[in-house]
Amino acid sequence: MNGKEMKDRERTAAVLTVQDVRKSFRTREGMLDVLRGVSLSVVRDEMVGIVGASGSGKSTLFRVIAGIERPDSGSVSYWGVVRLVFQDPREAFSPRMQMREFFRSALAYDKEAARGDLEERVAAMLGEVQLPPRVLDALPHQLSGGELQRVIIARALLQQPDILLFDEPTSALDVITQRQILDLIADLRKRFRFAGLFVSHDLGAVQRVAQRVCVLYEGKFAETLDAARLTQAQHAATRALLHAQHAATRALLHAQQLL
Ligand SMILES: Nc1ncnc2c1ncn2[C@@H]1O[C@H](COP(=O)(O)OP(=O)(O)OP(=O)(O)O)[C@@H](O)[C@H]1O
Ligand SMILES: [Mg+2]
Repeated sequence: MNGKEMKDRERTAAVLTVQDVRKSFRTREGMLDVLRGVSLSVVRDEMVGIVGASGSGKSTLFRVIAGIERPDSGSVSYWGVVRLVFQDPREAFSPRMQMREFFRSALAYDKEAARGDLEERVAAMLGEVQLPPRVLDALPHQLSGGELQRVIIARALLQQPDILLFDEPTSALDVITQRQILDLIADLRKRFRFAGLFVSHDLGAVQRVAQRVCVLYEGKFAETLDAARLTQAQHAATRALLHAQHAATRALLHAQQLL
């Protein structure tokens, strides 16, 4: 292999591979086949979006990929350090834990951090997510949902992840905060060069952070699209999500006119 071939191989090497994952749940009405053969791969520096209507199985797929739940069959493999960001940031905190402690716990096994530059590294990372240093003294209830989600992202980045997995990280926030956090994630990805998955019911949100979008429908990916070409979607499931997004955008514009 020459140098260029090696570079190409490096860039196109998958850091996350999901192969033919199936998952069913036993319910009172019988077996519910939520994932019916899902495959995908994510390469270095790439953010892949997963969209689908409520109940389409996005969180189930997320939990299988994150290793929280076992698939019935199929496999998930990844390369490197993986960190997770969930919808409700408050669930990540215990009520009496100061943010300083929250960061410290992330670096408990990190030898470099133990040498004493911990405060400096944390302070620098707070700057990256646009939070003031006073956040370190705060308890969870003293911060907003948006601020807490920034803290979680900063803590994840301190652990130098190769892959970040997001499950609806902005769905619990108001639309203006949502947009700020989405733009932050897109910006951080370019700066810190992690790969990732971004799961959301909101096509507009996914479009802001992902390069490629997979549409989950009836347990499989109905189609995969370039994020810049979503309007060329063919499948009815994608078109329905596009309609929902347009309705939400109109509502937002109307709300802004009232302000
Ligand atoms: N542990 C479980 N036991 C039984 N059914 C489950 C379980 N987990 C999920 N389901 C069902 O699987 C389907 C998919 O759920 P899932 O949470 O993955 O959807 P989702 O796409 O994340 O939806 P949302 O957009 O509302 O978050 C739903 O019908 C749900 O009720
Ligand atoms: Mg979900």
